[in-house]
Amino acid sequence: MLIRAAKRKDAEKLIAIEQQSFSDPNWKAGEFFKYDTIVAEISGQIAGFLVARQTFAGDNVSLPEREILNLAVALPFRRLGVASALLKEELRTAADFFLEVRESNLAAQALYRRFGFIEVGRRARYYRFPTETAIVMKMKK
Ligand SMILES: CC(C)(COP(=O)(O)OP(=O)(O)OC[C@H]1O[C@@H](n2cnc3c(N)ncnc32)[C@H](O)[C@@H]1OP(=O)(O)O)[C@@H](O)C(=O)NCCC(=O)NCCS
Repeated sequence: MLIRAAKRKDAEKLIAIEQQSFSDPNWKAGEFFKYDTIVAEISGQIAGFLVARQTFAGDNVSLPEREILNLAVALPFRRLGVASALLKEELRTAADFFLEVRESNLAAQALYRRFGFIEVGRRARYYRFPTETAIVMKMKK
């Protein structure tokens, strides 16, 4: 498995994975390139992606902070460690990490807990289609 930065030519595949992964797929192709997007490639195919951004640069007392904005794995490649490999790469950065996840998304929550994320808050009615609470999770280095 190769983890690399996303390229413009990956856009169509990123959108296809987004469409098959979410009940409210709302990311446009260009958005992937506004942030730090990495992809996992298996035998030349894009198996999944992770999008993150820095939300705080850090200072003398605090590490930088990053937010994981989007993560999805193509259906045929699930449960093979693709999301784990993408997360491992993102978490190499010296930073504290935040993310939001649907309350019903137990698969993703299990994945994030395995990487040391803990629940730090909830946002009611944060998601639409369907309307749902977001669980805010944090991983402190
Ligand atoms: C959540 C998601 C990214 C996981 O991707 P993946 O590549 O299949 O995950 P991995 O193979 O790295 O799984 C690592 C661990 O996470 C947990 N996990 C992953 N999928 C799971 C599932 N469907 N049910 C329960 N636990 C799951 C398990 O602990 C798993 O370890 P195991 O396979 O040894 O039991 C993928 O299911 C997906 O794209 N879902 C739709 C989009 C989504 O929900 N994104 C996250 C938004 S916050």
